Amino acid sequence: MMCLFQDQGCSVLSGEMAPCGDKKMIEDLLPKLFRHIRTNGLNATSDVIAKNLRHSIRSTLEERFDHKFQIDTAGSIQLEDLTIDSDNKARGVYYEPTPPHVFRYILSKLDIDHREFDFVDFGCGKGRVVFLASQYPFRRVTGIEFAPELVEVAKHNIECGKSGCLNCENVDVLCMDATQFEIPDSKAVLYFYNPFDAMIMKAIAQNLETSFLKNRAEKYVIYYNPQNEVVFERLPFMKKVASEKRVVDFASPRFHGYSIFRTID
Ligand SMILES: C[S@@+](CC[C@H](N)C(=O)[O-])C[C@H]1O[C@@H](n2cnc3c(N)ncnc32)[C@H](O)[C@@H]1O
Repeated sequence: MMCLFQDQGCSVLSGEMAPCGDKKMIEDLLPKLFRHIRTNGLNATSDVIAKNLRHSIRSTLEERFDHKFQIDTAGSIQLEDLTIDSDNKARGVYYEPTPPHVFRYILSKLDIDHREFDFVDFGCGKGRVVFLASQYPFRRVTGIEFAPELVEVAKHNIECGKSGCLNCENVDVLCMDATQFEIPDSKAVLYFYNPFDAMIMKAIAQNLETSFLKNRAEKYVIYYNPQNEVVFERLPFMKKVASEKRVVDFASPRFHGYSIFRTID
C-alpha cells in the first residue's frame, strides 16, 4: 500500500500535532496527492486515502490498547522471521492480532455461561486473544503457538499485563504445533483467526471429532476471516449458527468476516 501519511497520520488523528506541524504536513502531502490523482485517477486516490487512514487509526488504537494493559501485542510478524521447528511452517499464516473490539463483538454472539467452558486460541501469536479471553470467566484459557519467540512474548503479556481485569485464573500458553494439541473433552470454545491452510484445518477438525465423540460435550468454533470454513461446513456433527461477511471495523485496512459453528446435540 502506498503510504501517503508516513508517520504523520497518528499525530494528526490524535490531535497532538502543533498547528505549524499540520501546515508543514499538508504542504508535504499535497504535491504527493496531486501526483497520485494525475497518475491513478480520483477513485484510486480516494481508496488509497481511506486505506491509509484506516491503517493510521488501527496503529493508534493498537498502541493505546497495549499501553492501557502494558502488554505487547501490536504489529504483524512474518513466519520467515521466526525460528519455528515444524513441518507445517509453510502452511501457517503470519502473525497479525485480532482487533480487540472485533473479538469482543464476535464473542458476544455466544449465548453461553463462560464458567462452564474452556477457551483455546489456535495460533495465539503474542497472546492478545488469550489476554482478552481471560477477561471473561472461562474455566480455562489456553493459547497454542508454534513460534517460540511469540510464545515468550505471550507468556510475558499474561504474567505482567495489568492483571486487575483478568477473570480467569487458569491461563496458559503452550509452545507446540496446533495439530499436536489434544482438544479438551470438556465444553469448549475453539478460536481461529485464519491461522493456517485447509490441510492443517482438516487435521484439527479430525482432532475435534475424536474429542467430541468421547462424551459429546458442547463445542463452539469461532472462525475469524474463515478462509477454509468449508472444512467445518462438511463436518456432520457441526452446524453454522452465526456468520457475517464483513465485520464493520473502520480501524482495519481490510474487513474480515467470521463464522461460528456449534456441535449438534
Ligand atoms: C493470524 S495470527 C492470529 C493471532 C491470534 N490468534 C490473534 O487472533 O490475535 C496466526 C498465528 O498462528 C500461528 N500458527 C500458524 N500455524 C500454526 C501451527 N501449525 N501451530 C501453531 N501455531 C500456528 C502463527 O505463528 C501466528 O502467530
